Amino acid sequence: MSDPVVYVTREIPDAGLELVAAETEMHVWDGKLPPEKDHIIERLEELEADGLLCLLTDETDGEVMDASPNLDVISTFSVGYDHVDIDAAMERGIAVGHTPGVLSDTTADFAWAMLMTTARRTVEGSEYVLADEWETWGPKLLTGPDVSGATLGIVGLGNIGSVVAQRTAGFDMDVLYTDAEPQPDVEEDLADYGVDAQYVSKDELLERSDFVTLHVPLMEPTHHYISEDELRAMKDSAVLVNTSRGPVVDTEALDKALENDWIERAGLDVTDPEPLPGDHEITRHVPEKLVVTPHIASASIQTRDKMATMAAKNLLAGLRGEELPNSAVEDWQRK
Ligand code: DGY
Repeated sequence: MSDPVVYVTREIPDAGLELVAAETEMHVWDGKLPPEKDHIIERLEELEADGLLCLLTDETDGEVMDASPNLDVISTFSVGYDHVDIDAAMERGIAVGHTPGVLSDTTADFAWAMLMTTARRTVEGSEYVLADEWETWGPKLLTGPDVSGATLGIVGLGNIGSVVAQRTAGFDMDVLYTDAEPQPDVEEDLADYGVDAQYVSKDELLERSDFVTLHVPLMEPTHHYISEDELRAMKDSAVLVNTSRGPVVDTEALDKALENDWIERAGLDVTDPEPLPGDHEITRHVPEKLVVTPHIASASIQTRDKMATMAAKNLLAGLRGEELPNSAVEDWQRK
């Protein structure tokens, strides 16, 4: 019997590609930028592919799924699967895999890096030095709010949000969280780290937090979760950090908030639009009020290898007709 045929929409780390190549006839898009959706459709069609390994940059809807009559499995190299139409996959009996868990520590680390750098103005400081503006040590030079002792508001106490909470242990912070419902089991785990996470309403979290960090998947209820009303409700000294998905924050509203000092600063690793053009209006707030990075929160060498391995294993399981080790469909049904 011939090997199953798979299409991979970008070169992922070898740790994953080697596993896939060993068991399939593998075709990889070798462009630096994502292939156009039409190109993916064309390739799936001509290859009559059995499997698709895609990225968060690939809109994977029913049209894509219908391109090959043989498509059994879609495996995304990401934990987020908002780019995959899960209902369409379910209707067609196509399995969908994703990569939860393996990137939680790395992403939580980055949320902290973003929080710290935004609060303590490191990007601004570096640009200040490079611009040759550093004349002397200054008592009021580039001051920012203390992180230790502050109140941290976590939106979404899931895999990543809970690790962000764990990391507060050394910072003596008050930890608030909001979620669809209280998470007593997670609270109990956090207590083992000496962290007392308190469930509050969204309104209370916004009102009381010095730092607000977002860790929710992009779904209809979380689209523009932070918009004008929310930004107005936050402290004017607050710092907002987004490492989840760009559209969770209304970019236009954030622009207004920074312009009018409704909040102090924001750190975004994800943006809407994404990629964010360097001359997008909101970038005028960089670096004084805004730090932006190009969706790299999970980008540690080790984690990207683990994501590649997990995506490959999901794909191969689907091709064999086995249950996926990490099914996005099951995750979606739980939500
Ligand atoms: C994911 O896997 O969904 C992340 O956003 C990638 O960093």
